[in-house]
Amino acid sequence: MEVIVKENYEEMSKFAAQLIAEVVRKKPRAVLGLATGSTPIGTYKELIRMHKEEGLDFSQIVTFNLDEYVGLPPDHPQSYRYFMNEHLFNHINIRMENTHIPNGMAKDLKAECEKYEQMIKEAGGIDIQLLGIGANGHIAFNEPGSSLSSRTRIKTLTEKTRQDNARFFDNEINKVPKYAITMGIGTILEARKLILLASGENKADAIARAVEGPITAQCPASVIQFHRNVVVIMDKAAASKLKGNYPDTPAELRL
Ligand code: F6R
Repeated sequence: MEVIVKENYEEMSKFAAQLIAEVVRKKPRAVLGLATGSTPIGTYKELIRMHKEEGLDFSQIVTFNLDEYVGLPPDHPQSYRYFMNEHLFNHINIRMENTHIPNGMAKDLKAECEKYEQMIKEAGGIDIQLLGIGANGHIAFNEPGSSLSSRTRIKTLTEKTRQDNARFFDNEINKVPKYAITMGIGTILEARKLILLASGENKADAIARAVEGPITAQCPASVIQFHRNVVVIMDKAAASKLKGNYPDTPAELRL
């Protein structure tokens, strides 16, 4: 596991975008695993800049998002489909039919979850998966207590996560959906490379538990310690509770 501590959010975002761009350049048909939330917005901005100014080409890229709320239609401003269109897809040359987000409006949600797993498999698996971390240690919507080998399924959001996300729903927790479809921890671990991003002091505890604590379902993000190709990139505030000293550049670039 490579842990990189950048000075601030902007540096963290630029570095994460570079790692993704590297995969896009090397493999024009790469499969990207994407996340929503506040944390990856800067990374998406930088990828859009690279597309516009440097011609980074997404024309054959395929994407799978981690999760989607149950009950929000794609045109709902808080749906993850809307978020991805707004923050990335509408600004790059990706083909919309190559972008996948679980359908939280599906009549048969269980079948939708199985179909999603199947589509990832048929696309050849995920080359690089971007992850954020919840203040309670969740990854995607795998809340504390999730099975470490879980697959795409419906999860009930914890009170903590609904409170954290209420900021996007007029600060009214009752408006935050209670359920989501999420890739499982087992699904995420099958990606060939993982990038976990964390920014801000409210993530410092979760990051300390994920990076330096024991592997436990009580902190689902700690499972990244099992993965053989993972980069954790954070800003100084998110790193403030780590005991170890970590560099700002990966080893291969320091040699
Ligand atoms: C979103 C997701 C979530 C977020 C996490 C952090 O697709 O999977 O696990 O990454 O809740 O959210 P932010 O970045 O808003 O702090």
